[in-house]
Amino acid sequence: MKRILDNFIVLEGLDGSGTTTQLKEIVERFDMQSIPVHATFEPTGSPFGKIVRSVLKKEIVTTPLALAHLFAADREDHLHNPVHGITGMIEKGETIICDRYLFSSLAYQSIECGYEKVEELNDFPYPRFIFYIDTPTDVCMERIYTRNEETELFEEHSYLNKVREFYERAFSTLPEEVNFIRIDGRKTIEEITVEIESVLKDKGLL
Ligand code: TYD
Repeated sequence: MKRILDNFIVLEGLDGSGTTTQLKEIVERFDMQSIPVHATFEPTGSPFGKIVRSVLKKEIVTTPLALAHLFAADREDHLHNPVHGITGMIEKGETIICDRYLFSSLAYQSIECGYEKVEELNDFPYPRFIFYIDTPTDVCMERIYTRNEETELFEEHSYLNKVREFYERAFSTLPEEVNFIRIDGRKTIEEITVEIESVLKDKGLL
């Protein structure tokens, strides 16, 4: 059985589902109550994460499997870096909230690399909480297009449909001890924040 990291909260969702916005909103709620929280994200800002972002921006071309390895290396460093790894912070009692985690790899990389392979590369501990902002792909695509930025590697309708299916597969095998909360991504930013906030209050984190 995989280890579960206490006080580790993960936000997951398709591109355009608003996980980054929610991360900011939830961190504000912690700040308002002067409860310390460490906000983070994947791909990270580390040199490993920077390579990943270059691939996503289509500046570097590589294979899907090399990209899956890069995501996993970035995650390994994110978790276990001896200076600033998340596991070290959690051991010291800190609460961590992270925009995307290994479920993103299971959802996105499985399409081209196969689920079992990605699972094997991502033998990392589970978070105690997963908030999945479940958003229909057409809603995501509309938001992605109105951002007016160059689209990244995976921001394509039929690809996101497959990602959504692999998310379901990944979440279907979670152990009971992991709190999995599905949120309707069609709700407003405010409604979603309130929903996340109320679960965290219920569980005594906020
Ligand atoms: P994200 O940070 O949400 O993008 P941005 O900040 O540019 O809006 O994630 C970047 C992309 O990387 C997104 O398409 C999901 C993808 N991704 C994976 O394919 N595998 C992973 O393991 C992770 C963490 C992200």
